[in-house]
Amino acid sequence: MTKSISNGKFITLEGVDGCGKSTQADKLVEKLFETDISAVTVREPGGDHISESIRKLLLHAEESMSDRAEALLMIASRAQLTDKVILPHIINGKWVVADRYADSTLAYQGGGRGLSVNALEEINNFGTYTLKPDITFFIDIPVEKANERMSVSRDRIEREGANFQQRVRDQYLAMNTKEPERVILINGEQSIDKVFEDIWSIMKEKFSL
Ligand SMILES: Nc1ncnc2c1ncn2[C@@H]1O[C@H](COP(=O)(O)OP(=O)(O)OP(=O)(O)O)[C@@H](O)[C@H]1O
Ligand SMILES: [Mg+2]
Repeated sequence: MTKSISNGKFITLEGVDGCGKSTQADKLVEKLFETDISAVTVREPGGDHISESIRKLLLHAEESMSDRAEALLMIASRAQLTDKVILPHIINGKWVVADRYADSTLAYQGGGRGLSVNALEEINNFGTYTLKPDITFFIDIPVEKANERMSVSRDRIEREGANFQQRVRDQYLAMNTKEPERVILINGEQSIDKVFEDIWSIMKEKFSL
């Protein structure tokens, strides 16, 4: 398993829809800039032309999509993003902040859809070139609260409902239990500033900032 390469770092944000990932990703990159660290954000699924085309298919397809097709498309999008965007940045010493990454597949297609988490882990390894985040912030919030924060226009997966989201959350909680050193649970019910304070204090300690 590739642990950490070059001097760039790879940080991922995870959690159910509406927990605050994109908000915190923006704050994190801004703070890293203030700390004289060159950082970029990427979002999943998406990130370049090919990945964005896959994103449209995944989130807005009208026809019913098979669960395995959904999983493989997610991982295909991730392979493209990893090879063409994330790895080149990290090799050049940049810090990459990803708004979702491989853990999302375990949570959504594993926990949510009920596909084998072991099988998904193996396909994830192939699709990520075995790249592992240096640290993952799992922003945890009860699904009802996250639901209140979500916009009215929902994509195909966001429309799955509360039971689905609950299974997704439970899978994230299991990942935190399994890999507590990497998957850090952050209380997402707090204010935006307090959530960021928690994230930044862990960043400072982990990377000696
Ligand atoms: N800690 C917070 N307290 C209150 N509101 C918040 C908090 N964090 C984010 N929000 C608000 O909740 C909404 C969803 O936040 P955001 O888009 O960052 O979530 P997300 O996890 O990226 O969602 P998605 O998975 O749908 O992309 C936004 O309107 C944002 O301003
Ligand atoms: Mg978002």
